[in-house]
Amino acid sequence: MEANNDIKCVGVVGTGVIGASWTAYFLARGFDVSSTDPMPGAEAKLREAVCRHWPSMEKMGLAEGASLERLRFSANLAEALAGVDFVQENGPEREDLKVALFRDMDALLPEQVILASSSSGLLMSLVQGACTHPERVILGHPFNPPHMIPLVEVIGGALTSSETIERTMAFYSAIGKRPIHALKEVKGHIANRLQAALWREAFYLVDQGVATVADIDTAIAYGPGLRWALIGPFLNLHLSGGEGGIGHVLDHLGPPIESWWADLGTPAITEELKQKICAGVDELLTGRDQALLAPTRDALLLGLVEAKAGTTLP
Ligand SMILES: NC(=O)c1ccc[n+]([C@@H]2O[C@H](COP(=O)([O-])OP(=O)(O)OC[C@H]3O[C@@H](n4cnc5c(N)ncnc54)[C@H](O)[C@@H]3O)[C@@H](O)[C@H]2O)c1
Repeated sequence: MEANNDIKCVGVVGTGVIGASWTAYFLARGFDVSSTDPMPGAEAKLREAVCRHWPSMEKMGLAEGASLERLRFSANLAEALAGVDFVQENGPEREDLKVALFRDMDALLPEQVILASSSSGLLMSLVQGACTHPERVILGHPFNPPHMIPLVEVIGGALTSSETIERTMAFYSAIGKRPIHALKEVKGHIANRLQAALWREAFYLVDQGVATVADIDTAIAYGPGLRWALIGPFLNLHLSGGEGGIGHVLDHLGPPIESWWADLGTPAITEELKQKICAGVDELLTGRDQALLAPTRDALLLGLVEAKAGTTLP
């Protein structure tokens, strides 16, 4: 979990929601962080966000030498990138902007420095197009908030080298992340596609009047969601099969599952459905202090991540 040998200083490019969260994480893991963002007032906003995240970082445990003092900022890209050993890019999710940004970063940095993008949906094959060294461009997609959620999805573009993929996987693992390597580029990567599949049916069930927004949230948060946070959908299925494991489940429940798949909906997010969902969320929150929602969730999340780290769960 300590800063590994060849990477001492991480460049964080774009310091909005995701960049600030990554910054807190890299600082907590004992790196120097050199950050940049062209927005006026970005530095103050970044420092305020990192201070806000720091108590969580302290609870998770700081690496030796970790300090808020090791954050530097420059609104100038070249100045900020001087001397960095790894870049985590978090600029706006626009293809033209990322292509230009990666071209500029590529021109500024020695070829062994990996350029990783947090992009939620852009393909690195397109983003790396204007670079002289496209082989060091890679996706390192975190889950919000990256200072708490271990998952990082690593995906190379058509021109990314296998060495870059290996070094990126090793880097994220060494700093306590749980990277997974997707072998092909697909829209939305992996975890967001899985979420999208669930949201599609959740929206459909509300649209069809089968369940309320509150009941759907209860169904997940007090049902399968509790298990999914501990082990994934395949292992849960395996445990459902008793001694016969997942093979037995698929023999036994495969045909009904296929018939449910055939029945799933594909709703359109019409104005009417949007209003129904928003009204359902308002109703769910009636009488609750909304300001407590995110801090309560995040405190529990921290406890859960810590508790899992002390087990043999995969
Ligand atoms: N928000 C999420 O839940 C989430 C999760 C995972 C990944 N991501 C990805 O992370 C990236 C950033 O998303 P965000 O939610 O932090 O957005 P954001 O709007 O909060 O932050 C983007 C930042 O980029 C800055 N910026 C604008 N032009 C720039 C440039 N030329 N160079 C550097 N910085 C520039 C902006 O000033 C802003 O501070 C996106 O690619 C997004 O897809 C977002």
